[in-house]
Amino acid sequence: MADKNILIGVTGGIAAYKVVEVASRLKKSGANVKVIMTKHATEFITPKTFQEITNNAVSVDLFADAANFNVAHISLADFADLILIAPATANFLAKMAHGIADDLLTTTILAFDKKILLAPSMNTKMFENPATQANLNILKARGVQILEPASGNLACGTVGKGRLPEPAEICEEIEKIFAPKVLSGKKILVTAGGTVEAIDPVRYIGNRSSGRMGYEIAKSAVKNGAEVTLISGKAEIEPPNGLKHFVKVESALEMRNEVLKEFETADAVIMSAAVADYRVKTPAAQKIKKSSDNLTLELVKNPDILRELGTLKKNQVLVGFAAETQNVLDYANKKLVEKNLNFIVANDVTLEGAGFGVSTNIASIIWRDGSVENFSKMSKAELAEKIVQRLSKALNQ
Ligand code: C5P
Repeated sequence: MADKNILIGVTGGIAAYKVVEVASRLKKSGANVKVIMTKHATEFITPKTFQEITNNAVSVDLFADAANFNVAHISLADFADLILIAPATANFLAKMAHGIADDLLTTTILAFDKKILLAPSMNTKMFENPATQANLNILKARGVQILEPASGNLACGTVGKGRLPEPAEICEEIEKIFAPKVLSGKKILVTAGGTVEAIDPVRYIGNRSSGRMGYEIAKSAVKNGAEVTLISGKAEIEPPNGLKHFVKVESALEMRNEVLKEFETADAVIMSAAVADYRVKTPAAQKIKKSSDNLTLELVKNPDILRELGTLKKNQVLVGFAAETQNVLDYANKKLVEKNLNFIVANDVTLEGAGFGVSTNIASIIWRDGSVENFSKMSKAELAEKIVQRLSKALNQ
């Protein structure tokens, strides 16, 4: 982390002592580290400790230097490439969420517009209190990154969630933030979830897609610096933070419309949505009554969105998915060529730990030159990371 300027805000929690090691590790990795402590933090550890570790003066008081008091918070905010708040107490989270600036740390934060990493640490009940959770949600929505507390023995004698993560883990997170971003400046369109095709106002034809794979891809693309639009059908989970646009759709026809609006300006499209191949020709205007013993629904073919993109494609990179129950590689290869894709992610959804609803996947990536990469079972988050790395390769070809 050479040449990075990191400002650590230490607030008044017992875990403050652990942050000495965080400061030390950051310093050893080449960063220039400065520390602001709140008054309460100095009850747990002295500024002198951080001063010795960082080789920089530690600031506590907004009005300490009478000549410069009005600029200390601005210069510290200007100095930092990143602010880490560890431990972040419940009181501090509440103040930050509501823009209160009553000491040097909170004032500096208001004057800061770059990346903030928060490591909350407190008693489990305080952490789980709806007030604290609401404050965390406000901060997340503002783009602040939250490092979830770990579970274990707490200083108050209880066991639960609320421990400050280990210094190595905190430093790893900071390293990730500064890692070069392979999709920086790229506009990526991701589709996810399953489409819903109406039968009548209350029933629909759907599928087992949970949206997990596509949401993880969107999350990984955001992390890698891309400007991401996520167009989602039905999904079981919340969209990731940091998206440029999030568009919720129901049917394949709606998804097609939204995808076509974005396609021309996109650098790449990852089509992971489970789009229904057929829809009901004429959905009933009223709820269908169970009057007869048989009911026949006439289905008509939906447009194949990805195939259409394949014909419209100029420089865009196109990535498709092939979820199969047999002859996986053959079918996937056929789709790769027919839909004019750069690569396709294929998986056998009958394997345990792969496909719909589960958090893991077992996939292969097939390229246009015929090469195949087989991955073992891994989390959808890990697979998403691999897909995004391949996407960056395809964008640079
Ligand atoms: O042909 P098949 O449906 O198996 O192809 C799967 C790939 O095509 C997926 O990437 C899926 O998102 C996309 N697809 C589509 N429009 C459809 C059906 C599938 O874009 N109507």
